[in-house]
Amino acid sequence: MTARRFTSCTGPLSRWRQNDLYAGFSAAYKSFATEAIHIGQEPEQWKSMAVVPPISLSTTFKQHGPGNHAGFEYSRSGNPTRNCLEKAVAALDGAKYCIAVASGLAATVTITHMLKTGDGIVCMDDVYGGTNRYFQRIACESGLEVSFADCTKPELLKAALKANTKLVWIETPSNPTMKVVDIKACSQVAHEYNKDIVVVVDNTFMSAYFQRPLALGADVCMYSATKYMNGHSDVVMGLASMNRDDLYERLKFLQNALGCVPSPFDCFLCNRGLKTLHLRMERHFKNGMAAAKFLEADPRVERVIFPGLPSHPQHEVVKRQCTGCPGMITFYIKGKLEHANAFLSNLKLFAIAESLGGYESLAEHPAIMTHASVPEQERIDLGISDTLIRLSVGLEDEEDIIEDLRQALAAAVSNIRHWWSTR
Ligand SMILES: Cc1ncc(COP(=O)(O)O)c(C=O)c1O
Repeated sequence: MTARRFTSCTGPLSRWRQNDLYAGFSAAYKSFATEAIHIGQEPEQWKSMAVVPPISLSTTFKQHGPGNHAGFEYSRSGNPTRNCLEKAVAALDGAKYCIAVASGLAATVTITHMLKTGDGIVCMDDVYGGTNRYFQRIACESGLEVSFADCTKPELLKAALKANTKLVWIETPSNPTMKVVDIKACSQVAHEYNKDIVVVVDNTFMSAYFQRPLALGADVCMYSATKYMNGHSDVVMGLASMNRDDLYERLKFLQNALGCVPSPFDCFLCNRGLKTLHLRMERHFKNGMAAAKFLEADPRVERVIFPGLPSHPQHEVVKRQCTGCPGMITFYIKGKLEHANAFLSNLKLFAIAESLGGYESLAEHPAIMTHASVPEQERIDLGISDTLIRLSVGLEDEEDIIEDLRQALAAAVSNIRHWWSTR
């Protein structure tokens, strides 16, 4: 471990605590903050020398003569503000290229469009509900063969690969049960089976700051940028980064041909969000760890799943392949659905809402909210039960976050006593 974060602005005690939080994790990526702030943002690219990239709203661009343009023709095929964002994200992912699309699901759809009828997809068994719905209800109906495997065990992925497998879809940590996949091991398994299999990692939960799938052997790193990458809960967007020239050519073509492009204003906002990604993620980790430890010690909580805790089943993999953890916590409250409902309804600082990764703390009930589209039996098999609660711990003061969890747990228990006594 190298000396790291906040060392210049905190005293010896907090510095020790900070380093303790990151003990055993992979070292932070070199020059991450500098690249987030400068790559793709060069003032020299504008006649005005604007330091902050302008929002380029023009849908079309004047050509010197037919076909003789200055790099842009029509805003769907290329846009100056989108360019700034794509260059910055590529740098942060350690990639050569990036494409920005209109949502995380648009990225999934665009990537899947590289396949043709009869091709196979092996998908991690626990993934975002919308990804599961797209693969099971749309991709399958368009002639693709989709199967699911628990990729936390690379041997299960290996067993699921077939001659027609063209795409392996990994989400790590997975949404919502926070399973962690060894990206290096799974990429190796897939590529040894067939070097042409495209391994995609949904890096939404970790963000570019805490995990670099391409360096671990994946072919595409994708995001719902709606979450941590933008970080302010005011943009819906998707991103996909890659190093392979052939993949970039195909995906760049599909970005334009399918037309799922983001607006220049959204690109501006996401590009702005990236400037503080490193600061936000460090605070998410600090607050997330405090909340996870608090919940783990509370007798009203059955089980906490937080990749930063030693109790997480793949904690060693997390430390090896990540440089820290986001503020995502899943936990089982003791009791029944009523306890979970009472806990959620009594939160004051956390808002009950879908989505995650913004500066504000959010809480949700996956079985009723984000994962309602996953078939019931699959939810049961995956552990997405009535007592499962997902938290996206925000950037508020740590003590206020803990106090909110404390009072909601207490209220849930007394409400439930009341509920039982009135039956
Ligand atoms: C892990 C993950 N991937 C993909 C998506 C889909 O992204 P979007 O909502 O931006 O389409 C989500 C949305 O919640 C997600 O959590």
